Amino acid sequence: MEHQSSTPHVLIFPLPIQGHITPMLNLAELLCLANLKVTFLNTTQNHKLLTRNTNIEARFARYPGFVFSIVPDGLADEHPRAGVSKFKDWSSELVEKLALSGEPLLREMLVGSTGIDKVTCLIIDGWISFANEVANEVEVPVIAFRCSSPCYMWTYFCIPKLIQAGDIPFKDEAMDELVKSSPGMDSFLRYRDLPSFCRNQDTSSCQDLLHLFNGEIQRNKQAHAFILNTFEDLEDPTLSLIRSECSKVYSLGPLHAHLKYKLSQKETTLCNNSSSNLWEVDQSCISWLDQKPNKSVVYVSFGSLTILTKDQLREFWAGLVHSKKYFLWVIRPNLIIGSELDNPTPDDLLEGTKKRGCLVKWAPQQEVLAHRAIGGFLTHSGWNSTLESIVAGVPMLCWPYFADQQVNSRFVSEVWRIGLDMKDVCDRTIVEKMINDLMDVKKDELQRSMDKISQLAKTSISEGGSSYSNFNQLIEDIKAMSKKGEH
Ligand code: UDX
Repeated sequence: MEHQSSTPHVLIFPLPIQGHITPMLNLAELLCLANLKVTFLNTTQNHKLLTRNTNIEARFARYPGFVFSIVPDGLADEHPRAGVSKFKDWSSELVEKLALSGEPLLREMLVGSTGIDKVTCLIIDGWISFANEVANEVEVPVIAFRCSSPCYMWTYFCIPKLIQAGDIPFKDEAMDELVKSSPGMDSFLRYRDLPSFCRNQDTSSCQDLLHLFNGEIQRNKQAHAFILNTFEDLEDPTLSLIRSECSKVYSLGPLHAHLKYKLSQKETTLCNNSSSNLWEVDQSCISWLDQKPNKSVVYVSFGSLTILTKDQLREFWAGLVHSKKYFLWVIRPNLIIGSELDNPTPDDLLEGTKKRGCLVKWAPQQEVLAHRAIGGFLTHSGWNSTLESIVAGVPMLCWPYFADQQVNSRFVSEVWRIGLDMKDVCDRTIVEKMINDLMDVKKDELQRSMDKISQLAKTSISEGGSSYSNFNQLIEDIKAMSKKGEH
């Protein structure tokens, strides 16, 4: 009798931070909608927060093939887990501790000794490269999801070349010069736009960086394929460069819009509230926005990890108030270094905020960006925020903080021309001027380019579009992997 092929079972393992959980949960739901079995590995800490702050359990309870598995992240209970100044140090610690607590469980799950169905494909966060080795040992195919931007991924792949060519280390005086040996980006990428950890290096630390990157890139390339949260029309040249070094690349984004589209196509009335917030959302800002004229409000959010000094907070605050625009500002509980401001806040700031401002701890960002009252987004250029702004058609003023954000903001301003870059400057007069450029002086030209790109984003995730078709191909490939594993 012919062997009845079973449904593929995908195990998803994200890096447990907001900007990675969100797109990986969106991918998980898309796989469920394609009738695959999915297990999502959450950390104990994040599972508790998601359960408290979102409808996550109801959202996934409607898919019988879906389960959450839980693993401790290995960090002490009192660890802040966000909002620390040296994310690189914290992220290495997180990955290291997660490897210690997660690797034994992952191995058991992959060999099938935990009682879950046989895993036929592992989708890991690109950062969780220890999972590659475990999966390769037990011969489960791995697909790596790189949650940050492909333009950053390509820069990251180029770092060994840049070190060998002498482009890194670079001097402070060279920040505004073009990076000579960055293939495909040498006409617009400045030293200032390289990932933040390329700064402040010397010859000996560069050797450590070279060693680290050669190892990381090699481990990454052990994956059978890559999933990227982008769309072909946005990053076609960069995707070609990545494809020249990686065998298989699926661009499926923007994933949040892709999921929304697929849910809207279902005949049943599936609830399409797909939030995955680790913080409690303050909905009151929506009724505040309802009272404001069209495109009159600047939305200000620096994502989930950025932190500000008290001086930086004051410069932004004064710039926002002096711009005389309405502003909705997310001040996350751990956004500011230290807790309260030391000096009394000047009266004009308090008055300006009372008249034109709305402050919240955490906003329903996608709903905010889609609101007719929003005219611009002052952002840290996190990749999710960038894609959400593109889908909503809102031009950006970028103040990148770290990692991929320096590269993203350069692409936003110089390549796609859908925003302005305020990189490395935090001064009230510049903030005020650039907000006025965003909302008035340069508004029309930015909006024209944004409307075109926003339309291309929507086309890519609709039936027949590139991300839509790439997703179908991914499903076919996961099914083929699962059949291969049966023999
Ligand atoms: C960082 C990086 O910048 C990002 O590119 C990387 O891949 C992950 O780590 P983060 O600071 O979390 O990410 O920013 P971003 O990628 O923009 O993600 C933030 C998410 O939080 C977005 O999906 C945004 O909608 C959400 N958010 C933020 C809210 O829902 N409400 C808020 O008030 C603020």
